[in-house]
Amino acid sequence: MTDCKAHWNAVYTRKDRSEVSWYQAHPEASLKALSLVGRQDVPFVDIGGGASDLAKILSERGWRDLTVLDISEAALAVAGRRLGEQAVGVALIVANITDWTPPRRYEVWHDRAVFHFLTDEKDRAAYVAALKAGVCSGGHVILATFAPDGPEKCSGLPVRRYSADQLAAELGPEFDLRHHWQEMHVAPGGAEQSFTWTVFQRR
Ligand SMILES: C[S@@+](CC[C@H](N)C(=O)[O-])C[C@H]1O[C@@H](n2cnc3c(N)ncnc32)[C@H](O)[C@@H]1O
Repeated sequence: MTDCKAHWNAVYTRKDRSEVSWYQAHPEASLKALSLVGRQDVPFVDIGGGASDLAKILSERGWRDLTVLDISEAALAVAGRRLGEQAVGVALIVANITDWTPPRRYEVWHDRAVFHFLTDEKDRAAYVAALKAGVCSGGHVILATFAPDGPEKCSGLPVRRYSADQLAAELGPEFDLRHHWQEMHVAPGGAEQSFTWTVFQRR
């Protein structure tokens, strides 16, 4: 896993955030998912948030309980710089999600393009254990991964691709699949990447 951390730190050190394949100027699909959740200003965690502007946008919209977790301190340094003065209101946590014990519970757990890197079954089980420890009853999970017709690699690393039903099977029966759709993300180089977006609610 040290290699994993080194990989991501190297990516965020060598490339500008706008050059990575997952870059989006505006996190449109995440905001759509949040609108479907229908909750405003609730405890929110972005797992593997990287240098995304999602927390910054939510902060600008008045959300006050925001956490971004990432394995890469280089990514969170970029996120912190972009947050500027708003960074004081956002908890930035450097951790590997597969060995993180959430210190509290969140109403919304968001993950765009992180779970799909967990090709090892033990890592997926650890992720789901962290998720169950971190999401309150009635809370929502927004999970986006490459779709079955999506790329086989992301950032040069192998990924697992999922349909909505396959993601539901990974989370188990405590989580009801409320919404799902497919999104075609266009990477900065022009390549198309098919994503599965899901919104679950915990019973
Ligand atoms: C493809 S990027 C997506 C970033 C962000 N979610 C977005 O949509 O812009 C994957 C992110 O997950 C982070 N990451 C990868 N493996 C991780 C792990 N095991 N634990 C925590 N973060 C991880 C990486 O550092 C990177 O920022």
